[in-house]
Parts: sequence; C-alpha cells; structure tokens
Amino acid sequence: MEFSTKFAAPEKHPVPCVVAGIFESRKLSSAADALDKAAHGQIRELLRSGDMDGKLGSTRLLYRVRGVAAERVLLVGLGPEKEFGEDPFRKCSRAALAAVRETGAREAGLYLAELQVPGRDAAWKARQLVLAAADVSYRFDRMKSKKEEERSLAHFVISAASKRDAAALESGMRDVKLGREWKLAVEVLEQKDMEKLGMGSLLSVTKGSHQPPKFVILRYSGAGKKDRPVVLVGKGITFDTGGISIKPSAEMDEMKFDMCGAASVLGTLRAAAELGLKLNVIGLIPTCENMPGGAATKPGDIVTSMSGQTIEILNTDAEGRLILADALSYAERFEPQAVVDIATLTGACIVALGHVCSGLFANKDGLAHELQAAGAESWDRVWRLPLWEDYQEQLKSNFADFANIGGRPAGSVTAACFLSRFTRKYDWAHLDIAGTAWKSGKEKGATGRPVPLLMTFLIKRAGK
Ligand code: BES
Ligand code: MN
Ligand code: ZN
Repeated sequence: MEFSTKFAAPEKHPVPCVVAGIFESRKLSSAADALDKAAHGQIRELLRSGDMDGKLGSTRLLYRVRGVAAERVLLVGLGPEKEFGEDPFRKCSRAALAAVRETGAREAGLYLAELQVPGRDAAWKARQLVLAAADVSYRFDRMKSKKEEERSLAHFVISAASKRDAAALESGMRDVKLGREWKLAVEVLEQKDMEKLGMGSLLSVTKGSHQPPKFVILRYSGAGKKDRPVVLVGKGITFDTGGISIKPSAEMDEMKFDMCGAASVLGTLRAAAELGLKLNVIGLIPTCENMPGGAATKPGDIVTSMSGQTIEILNTDAEGRLILADALSYAERFEPQAVVDIATLTGACIVALGHVCSGLFANKDGLAHELQAAGAESWDRVWRLPLWEDYQEQLKSNFADFANIGGRPAGSVTAACFLSRFTRKYDWAHLDIAGTAWKSGKEKGATGRPVPLLMTFLIKRAGK
C-alpha cells in the first residue's frame, strides 16, 4: 500500500473515494461541509432524513454526488464533538478504512486529519492513519491456493484542505514511508557456536527438536561507532508444544505465534533502517522449537546458563525465559544504553491484562517511563507490573541456583524476576506480549504489536 499527503479541496479531489466525518448528532466536519456546499445541500438532506446520525464508527457510502469530483463520498461518524479525542480518532479512522476496503475503490482521500485531537499534532494523526490502514488491510493469505479478491486499498491519500496542514502531515508520514534501501548487517550463530559460548539454558530447550536452533544478530548502525546501542531481544520459539511438560491440545496451533517477539524485533529493525534513524540498534533473536522427544530436557534437569548460574528446570513449558536468559547475557558485550526484551512469555499476563495492553517490567524507572509514554503515544499501550524482591523468593530451588518457575501466584512477575537475574549489568525492560501479539478466533492472526511502541521509543531515543 502506498501513502501520500495532498492539499486539495475535498469537493475537487478527483479520487475514487473521499472520506469526511460527521459528528453526533448530524454536525458536519469542515470537509463534510465543503462537500455539502458543492453538492447543494445533498449531504445535509441525507442527515435530515435520518440515514446517518454521526454515531462513532458508523459509515454511509454515497455514489456520484453532484458537484463532487470523487466517484464516492464516504461519511464516517465521529461521535459527540465534545468527546472527540485520541480514541474516537482511531476508531473512526479504522471504521472509515474498513468501509473503503469494502468498496471497489483502489484509491481514497481521507479528510480526517483536519479533526482536532487535543494534545496531538498533525504528525501524530498521520501516523495513526497509516497504522490503521496497515492494520485494517493486513491478511495472511500466502498459503491460500485461491487468494481473496484483491480489495485492499492500493493508494491512500491523507488529504488536507490547507497547504499548511498538508506540510505538517507530511512530516508525520515520513516516519512511516517505505522505500528506502535498508542496511542491516546479519550474523547467525549455529548450535556449535552456542555450545562454545556456554549457552546451556538456550540449548536445553532445543533438545527435543529435529530443527537446529539459530541465534540471529542484526545490526543497524545509524549513529557513530562509539554511540552505545539499544539492544532489542525477541523470543523466537517457532513452535511451543510445552516439551515434556506438554500443553493441552486445544488451541495449541496458536503456539506458532510464540515467535512474535522475534518478529517484532525484525520489524522494528527494518523500520529503523528504512527511516535512517540516527541511532545504533542491535537485534538479538534466540530461536528454536520446544518439542517433546527422547532427547528432550526433562523436568528436574539442571542446566548451566551462559552467565554461570545454574537453573533447575521444573517445567519445560517455561522455555521462553530459558532462551532469553542466554540472549540477555550475550547482550552485555554490546555495552548497551538499554536492553528491551519482547516475548510472548506467560499465559498469566493474559489473565492479568487481557488483550488490551502488554505487561511492562523494568529495572530502571526512567526506561519504564519512556516505554509507557511511547505506548500511550502510539496507542500500543503497556501497563507496568512490579519486580519487587519479595517475588524472587518463589524461584528458590533445592538443587540449583534457582528454578525456572515460581508457582501459580503472579506468574508473569516471577517470569520477569527470572529474567532480571540475567540483566543486572544494564538498564533493562521486559515486554510480555502474550495477550497483544496476536488475535484468536475469527480474526486469528498477528497484530504487529509492539512495533509501533518500539518505533516511537527509538525515535525519541534517537532525538536525544
Ligand atoms: N508461550 C507460552 C506463553 C503463552 C501461553 C503465550 C498462552 C500466549 C498464550 C510460554 O512459553 C508458556 O508456556 N508459559 C507457561 C509458563 C508456566 C509453565 C510457568 C504458561 O504461561 O503457562
Ligand atoms: Mn511454553
Ligand atoms: Zn512459549
């Protein structure tokens, strides 16, 4: 999909579809007003007839409106004007884009960025519109023998009725525009390399699988050699059966999404490179499969991690923390300014926070606040959970330095506590994305979260 910004009067914009907003009840936005004037009151007439009242997210499609250059006019409800803000802006954008997608229009001009969102500028609105478009049109159909009819918008124009607005939108758009050639250095460590490094924790997870593990290192150098990098570490379990502590079979297929942390690191590095971000960023991806089998690690086995600390594996299904542990030790060599790991780590995180926000843990308040702010700005939100010493006790082991599980209470917290034992040498944050990385049910598929959050965070760090 292509994105651009344009300055054009709504009624004169010759696109297959123009989109304008209507407030509840029946108050026209300035773009809708301009369309109505050109159409000699046709839109107001429609509103009077009761066919559209401006309820948030409602839509109404009109064809061949007199006096309007576009073939179609899509009206979208904005809800009550007094309550208009970030959330309604996102909701009406999504509704409008989904409705445009249902039409045959391959190109659309959206006059939504003219709406006032308290506390947010034009660049924010442009980014939100692009994210909404990407979200609404995402389909994974590579494995379908018959592709769904190509309905997706090919070109979407964030339109503005004034030149000044168009310029402001352009600056937000630049942050998401694709096309630049990206320079990433990639290195892949193989099993024998990991053995040499003493990654006994990571390697214990891969034992039951026929697939070899890989440890992927990506480097994006957007700043000087001496600039300390931000290191992103993504959990890359390509399938999580639970291992010998095998999972129940219901919905086990969804455990192919257990690599979403790794995917978000790939996506973020790619976006950083496309943007030419003035920052050094390293991506670390420990990746393997968690399978049962004759050679698989057993509950009760004790392994030695790269840090030298020993771990009693009481549950082989708590494997994410085992691969992250060694990746987090490996991160030390980059002398990072900060390390953020991203993982579909615990079912308990879904119990605690549902599918709305990701869990955030950090050993440094400043870093936690940066990530909270980035989450709020991008609406890829997080909620901080505690890492207090009190919880560490749950990881006690009779035989090793500590165990890999801490019992039922506060499962996400004890998982983070486990990771914290490998991150003492730097500023670190952990994002548990178990509830946010993918959707189940009818809409089953990956969401791309938390790439918007990470990009917003990195852009701010690069600006410092
Ligand atoms: N990948 C899972 C976590 C998960 C479960 C994410 C369901 C999304 C949906 C992780 O490896 C896991 O199995 N965690 C266990 C930990 C437990 C054994 C302490 C869990 O959450 O049950
Ligand atoms: Mn597991
Ligand atoms: Zn897992």
